[in-house]
Amino acid sequence: MSRQEPRTKVTPEVKNVNAPMLSLRGVGKTYQSGGQPLTVLREIDLDVAAGARCAIVGPSGSGKTTLLGLCAGLDRPSEGKIQLAGHDLSTMDEDGLAALRNAQVGFVFQSFQLLPSLTALENVLVPLELQGGGRGVRKEAEARLADVGLGERMHHYPSQLSGGEQQRVALARAFVHRPKILFADEPTGNLDVETSQPIEQMLFALNENFGTALVLVTHDPELAERVGRVVRMRGGRIESDTEL
Ligand SMILES: Nc1ncnc2c1ncn2[C@@H]1O[C@H](COP(=O)(O)OP(=O)(O)OP(=O)(O)O)[C@@H](O)[C@H]1O
Ligand SMILES: [Mg+2]
Repeated sequence: MSRQEPRTKVTPEVKNVNAPMLSLRGVGKTYQSGGQPLTVLREIDLDVAAGARCAIVGPSGSGKTTLLGLCAGLDRPSEGKIQLAGHDLSTMDEDGLAALRNAQVGFVFQSFQLLPSLTALENVLVPLELQGGGRGVRKEAEARLADVGLGERMHHYPSQLSGGEQQRVALARAFVHRPKILFADEPTGNLDVETSQPIEQMLFALNENFGTALVLVTHDPELAERVGRVVRMRGGRIESDTEL
């Protein structure tokens, strides 16, 4: 979520309700690095049904964050096709992608990416304001911050919060608008067990109560097991895709 995104009230619907929420076919990503092509993802096929859960695991550098960014329409693939909520992402311009994300997608970045000049509460309000704001949005944002245990920190700026607290603000921001699919890049990576357990429960509750599909990158094998489906990446490819 960046400030450059247009303030639009357009709400792209979920098209074709029978299609998977997310579908990738033959997806590859090649960066130009120092004048040399560097292929970091190749031949990725992946389907995530509406309301389903999926954990993405694999060694550092195997392409997990890159894959998540492509799935959410934050970056474009070099090859292949991605469908999200029934939309073919390759046919959409940047404004269309931003509108789709605002309406349907939650994203927790590995590096949080909170807006430094906004308080915790203002950060969580951003997705609601992008959807047009309205009455009740402030209460909604306050409630989500309380859910992640930050009821007492709402008016702090990111620089006044610990890493784990910033991560929890990023989580509250990612699900405040009840997205149809939530991508989270190591959502509990900076949290101790005591803090990460309620966050995990909250993610699962979002999945169970609102049917939000979850795609979580994690290094935590126990969390991956609880998710129930593990996609293992290695060297830019899917090495295995296992329902537990
Ligand atoms: N903009 C870029 N330009 C060039 N190479 C990149 C770029 N972004 C990522 N890479 C490379 O792509 C590979 C995959 O990176 P990615 O961040 O997806 O890995 P990851 O699996 O998320 O790792 P980690 O577990 O450490 O977060 C890495 O080798 C990285 O150096
Ligand atoms: Mg990563």
